[in-house]
Amino acid sequence: PLIPRPVTPPIPPRSVRLSVTDRCDFACTYCRPSRHDGYAESRLVTDAFRTMLRALREAGVRRVRLTGGEPLIHPEIVDLVAFIASLGFDDVALTTNASQLSRLAAPLRDAGLQRLNISIDTLDPERFRAMTRGGDLAQVLRGIDAALRVGFAPIKLNTVVLRGENDDEIEKLTLWAWERRMVPRFLEVMPIAEGAKLAKDHLVTAAEMRERLAGHLVEEEAVVEPGLGPARYVRARRDPGLRVGFISGTSDTYCATCDRLRVSSTGVLRPCLATDDGVDASQEARAGDLAGILARLDEAWRLKPDGTIWKGCTEDTAAGVSMRAIGG
Ligand code: GTP
Ligand code: 5AD
Ligand code: SF4
Repeated sequence: PLIPRPVTPPIPPRSVRLSVTDRCDFACTYCRPSRHDGYAESRLVTDAFRTMLRALREAGVRRVRLTGGEPLIHPEIVDLVAFIASLGFDDVALTTNASQLSRLAAPLRDAGLQRLNISIDTLDPERFRAMTRGGDLAQVLRGIDAALRVGFAPIKLNTVVLRGENDDEIEKLTLWAWERRMVPRFLEVMPIAEGAKLAKDHLVTAAEMRERLAGHLVEEEAVVEPGLGPARYVRARRDPGLRVGFISGTSDTYCATCDRLRVSSTGVLRPCLATDDGVDASQEARAGDLAGILARLDEAWRLKPDGTIWKGCTEDTAAGVSMRAIGG
């Protein structure tokens, strides 16, 4: 059942999530079926991404977040960030698993990257290896240190909480993040891609996560950062400068305030995370055809659904949607 959208989405979209590659060096259990699943054949080359970004800027998009797959394994990611910064977007952000960050934190900062979100699901090396199917926690921690050192602040962390796997670490991760002045954020597993299999038995709701941290948090209502992502934030009791975020992609929806367009690494413009709908603008991007991209954008944005296609894991899920291809 569709949940009605109380407000119409702003035209044009204000915010774009661009997946620069569907490749990833991890294979998180809620995201990929294995390390050996297939990749898209026809990723856009950097020049076509540049054309796409120029067109989006012209259309009035204000904010860009680079995602993947893992965006930092794209060989030209630093140049791409510098190009985006040069176009004058208000917000240039990136979401990463931090595996390449010890090397890239400084160049990304110099290139004009403003905001960094980092995925980390556990502080236990063995668990980390299991949840990411081979990831090296020590390398990720070095990446986070480097990002802190070069001055990214506040860094937001994304932890997908799975019952029986890492739900006993909510408090530990929160205190660890706060010690470093980062913003821990806990995500409900969404019934998308591999998450569809896990959401039924392993979902921990944001309400329960918040309950587990109750002793550390103020009791007032959670606040939304206007215009930014789907997280709701609650302040720490001990220090009003510290916050924790909750992303309830499964027990709740953000559709009413969603102004995001997603662009896949193959050049498809997608109006919603939860559906397979999209309009292919790859030919226009490859041909340097700005006006053509704007026309495709118009078509894509009209496909934006009135509500989310899943609710509470009991209805239709989006199991066929690839999280890596659309960048979360
Ligand atoms: P901020 O602007 O820093 O708040 O970024 P963000 O939270 O939007 O970006 P990030 O890439 O860190 O995403 C965190 C989680 O939010 C990911 O799991 C995304 O899939 C999820 N997310 C982002 N946008 C949407 C959305 O429109 N709907 C839903 N359900 N989830 C979303
Ligand atoms: N449910 C919730 N979050 C997910 N992510 C990837 N797949 C899922 C899912 N099925 C998260 C990653 C990363 C962010 C971009 O999306 O952990 O932090
Ligand atoms: Fe890679 Fe992110 Fe998917 Fe994990 S969740 S496999 S880090 S794209």
